[in-house]
Amino acid sequence: MLKKSILEAKLNGKRVVVRADFNVSIDEGVIKDDTRIRETVPTLKYLLSQNCSLILLSHLGRPKGIDAKYSLKPVAKRLEGYLKQKVSLINQFASGNNRPLELLPKQVVMLENVRFYPGEEKNDLKYARKLAGYGDIFVNDAFAAAHRAHSSTVGIARFLPAYAGLLLVKEINVIHKVLNNADRPVVSVVGGAKISDKIGLIKKQLDLSQTVLVGGGIANTFLKAMNRNVQNSLVENEVLKKARELLFEAASKHSALILPFDFVIKNKEGKVLTAILSQLPNEAAIMDIGPKSRKLFKDYLLGAGTIIFNGPMGKYEEKPFDEGTKDLIKAASESKALSVIGGGDTLACIGSKKIAEGITHISTGGGAMLEFIEKGTLPAIEVLQ
Ligand code: 3PG
Repeated sequence: MLKKSILEAKLNGKRVVVRADFNVSIDEGVIKDDTRIRETVPTLKYLLSQNCSLILLSHLGRPKGIDAKYSLKPVAKRLEGYLKQKVSLINQFASGNNRPLELLPKQVVMLENVRFYPGEEKNDLKYARKLAGYGDIFVNDAFAAAHRAHSSTVGIARFLPAYAGLLLVKEINVIHKVLNNADRPVVSVVGGAKISDKIGLIKKQLDLSQTVLVGGGIANTFLKAMNRNVQNSLVENEVLKKARELLFEAASKHSALILPFDFVIKNKEGKVLTAILSQLPNEAAIMDIGPKSRKLFKDYLLGAGTIIFNGPMGKYEEKPFDEGTKDLIKAASESKALSVIGGGDTLACIGSKKIAEGITHISTGGGAMLEFIEKGTLPAIEVLQ
């Protein structure tokens, strides 16, 4: 499974096409969180130390064609600060100018958003060949996009010797350890709005873990599938049957699927209260897990050998309903377990730098991390030599 990394490649002076995931959230030109950019810097610095010139590729957002709103310009600017050198953003295809670039050793250029061109998401080999034409070797450091079989992540590896960057290797190693050699007990935390996105993941978590703690809309759907009255809470009614099957499956496994039993709620007048499941007021909506459930979940986390955390326990975007998730992340950070946290919404609930430092691995991947845990591999990892 462990792929060849750049540490094993002969790099000296090569032109390296690097696929990174610089898909960061940008609000009116301002980058809100640059973790994904920062985490790629060690790979880029290593390549530069080997006198390579770099041609950086990334997507940003989901543009439909060329759209200035999705330009990588702010990313190139931010990267200049980290690398302390010029990062020129170029738009070769738009100008119809596809000549190879004349690059000096240690020069860094970034191609404009690879998704501006329709070939990218279709894994079009003509487009992949064009991207490959810029370099001598290909380095993939885009763990967060490794579940996408696109031209710049998968197709390109057909045309160039392909290696994993340091971030990709780090992400693979940690998740590999969790999947194959985890210290017990393994405690998984699964949250978020929808079960339908996470059915495969929950099944896998039940195999991997001794305990699966569930919160968010997913827990509501499970509770309703057990014929509990969750009043006006967010529920995925279309998948109640699936949820019930999953509960039966869980009951036949060695692991325990644990649901919250008290909640922070909004009553029909919009007042914030706490209530146990059997006493939810009429027309109330569950917004977060309650104090007793938090205490139970935290005890599991503090006694864990390994923690896999993905998805919020409540409607974290609206304060104070981020508190349940924050509390559990803090417990994961304080526990002695190897802890892995991923998913943009979960990362948004890490309260402080100190809490972040207590987590063993904060994954840059959301969907990619989930798919990697579920399937044990990803398309863009498969194609690396
Ligand atoms: C992500 O943010 O999960 C990755 O960058 C992939 O983006 P996508 O879901 O638009 O393919």
